[in-house]
Amino acid sequence: MSSFEPLVFSGVQPTGNLTLGNYLGAIRKFVALQDTHNCIYCVVDLHALTINPSPQDLIDGRRAIAAAFLASGIDPVKHIVFNQAAVFQHSELAWVFNCIARMGWLNRMTQFKEKAGKDRENASVGLFAYPNLMAADILVYRATHVPVGDDQKQHLELTRDIAQKFNWDYRERTKALDLGVPMEIGDETIDGYFPITEPLIEGPATRIMSLRDGTKKMSKSDPSDLSRINLTDTADDIAKKIRKAKTDPEPLPGDTSGFQGRPEAENLVNIYAALSETSNDAVLQEFGGQQFSVFKPALAELAVEKLAPIADEMRRLMADPGHIDAVLATGGERASALAEKTMVDVRRLVGLTV
Ligand code: AMP
Ligand code: TRP
Repeated sequence: MSSFEPLVFSGVQPTGNLTLGNYLGAIRKFVALQDTHNCIYCVVDLHALTINPSPQDLIDGRRAIAAAFLASGIDPVKHIVFNQAAVFQHSELAWVFNCIARMGWLNRMTQFKEKAGKDRENASVGLFAYPNLMAADILVYRATHVPVGDDQKQHLELTRDIAQKFNWDYRERTKALDLGVPMEIGDETIDGYFPITEPLIEGPATRIMSLRDGTKKMSKSDPSDLSRINLTDTADDIAKKIRKAKTDPEPLPGDTSGFQGRPEAENLVNIYAALSETSNDAVLQEFGGQQFSVFKPALAELAVEKLAPIADEMRRLMADPGHIDAVLATGGERASALAEKTMVDVRRLVGLTV
């Protein structure tokens, strides 16, 4: 029972090249949701600071993600496209959430453990608090739906925990100021301020794997460029990477039960299904029993057909950085106005203003 207006929010970090995983797991869903929802899409440059990019890399990366959004078909007029740093309210709400979230909650985050590695003492405080800023990104708009890939599931659970604790801690003042929406927590109905956000993680492309190792996520930061398809790869690069993708000597199975112990085969079929917007079953009906020497060229052709127009449009947009900056600036102004409305309430709720 929620009376929050449906609103979609998601973000992508401007670190390195966008991959086919980002496109299929996230950006393509962003595009589809525009038909049914109001959407806000953000280049999360503050999050990128956690890996200490050079200033120029951050500037270039921000433009590249914005260009990828636009080239993929996100409409910055009907919806909002902006960069996180342009709206200081994200940082302000993140501080409030730093004081809501518990160390124990953040200590459980697997992404922090992976990124910090063995030397945790030397990891930045920003990397540790990263999920609180992500919760602030979403909740500063009181967004109800967040499309992401599978790797972000745990961060979205944390976002829900933060909203839930904030709602509970400030329930009386929320009621007194008449700012809340009735919601159930356990057996009680309270007036809560923040929605309990729904993750949108579904379809065949929630986790695209590396082309070199079917047990590892395809990632911008993998040292091997052969492990991923970048959105800006040329047709020749794409064909080469698919040709060199790791496989096994068996033909493709007749149905999905045959993927047991064959993560690379499953991944390539997943990619084909996602790109052609069908299911794995449908792909196996067509290619089951065939060798990779037949399947790989078909996959390469499909990938080039879908990605080349986006890459071309990205290159065209990147040639005019002033235009991209102007689109982001306009989006930033519109986002700021919405975020400030929330922060006026939040400052009153917590007692930072009267
Ligand atoms: P990031 O590059 O970490 O900012 O991720 C941006 C979006 O892409 C997030 O929603 C991720 O969950 C999604 N994503 C990243 N890598 C993959 C992948 N290999 N498969 C599916 N989704 C992904
Ligand atoms: N943490 C996300 C990632 O690495 C990026 C992100 C930041 C995000 N803020 C967000 C995604 C808010 C969705 C909503 O992919």
